[in-house]
Amino acid sequence: MRLASSLILATLAATTFMAVPALADAPAFNAAGELERPADYRSWVFLTSGLGMTYGPNSSDGNRPAPFTNVFVNPEAYKAFVKSGRWPDGTLFALEIRLAEENVSINTGGRTQGAMVALEAAVKDSKRYPEGGWAYFSFDGEKGLKPRVAPFPRSADCYSCHRSHGAVEWTFTQFYPELFDIAKQKGTVRPDYDPARKLTAPAP
Ligand code: HEC
Repeated sequence: MRLASSLILATLAATTFMAVPALADAPAFNAAGELERPADYRSWVFLTSGLGMTYGPNSSDGNRPAPFTNVFVNPEAYKAFVKSGRWPDGTLFALEIRLAEENVSINTGGRTQGAMVALEAAVKDSKRYPEGGWAYFSFDGEKGLKPRVAPFPRSADCYSCHRSHGAVEWTFTQFYPELFDIAKQKGTVRPDYDPARKLTAPAP
């Protein structure tokens, strides 16, 4: 009897562990729930570059060309997504915004990436953020990037835009070409995702 129950316990522990494997490169938080800025995100998996994809205070002011956005994700989350079409707990996206420069060096008429003006992040952790599983962060500070930051409050527009316009969970995987194909094959695109739908109201 005792053997049987310890077997059951061991099996339960094993399945619990298997159901939620911790990613080796999962984001780090301090005791106050602040996200540590990932130092090495530039060596992670690069998903896309957008031009003129920005919104709010980081969008173009009309005097400069619209900036670039670069999206990176931690490699273990990427591997899990390729297998399942789903973002696992422990996913950390880094989104950097860089100025677009014109006529640099030998170039005439093209655009290239310049200084970084913002670094934002999104984390999936269903236990920490039971409402939808995702939270949003900005490392921008007046004296350069902050080492760790608390998430934006749930009332921030990050949540509403990502929740209503992201094609896979709350992420903009529709803009990550190889990955969107995988999501389509695995059937993980949100059923309410409509590719023809535009932002109706301008972002605040
Ligand atoms: C009006 C819609 C909108 C709002 C508001 C918004 N985003 Fe996004 N976000 C996007 C789009 C579109 C992308 C696709 C990538 C790009 O910009 O090239 C994106 C991508 C991201 C990504 C990459 C991961 C992903 O989810 O695809 C992060 C991180 C991110 N945004 C953070 C933020 C943060 C932090 C805020 C709030 C301060 C915010 N966003 C507000 C539209 C929005």
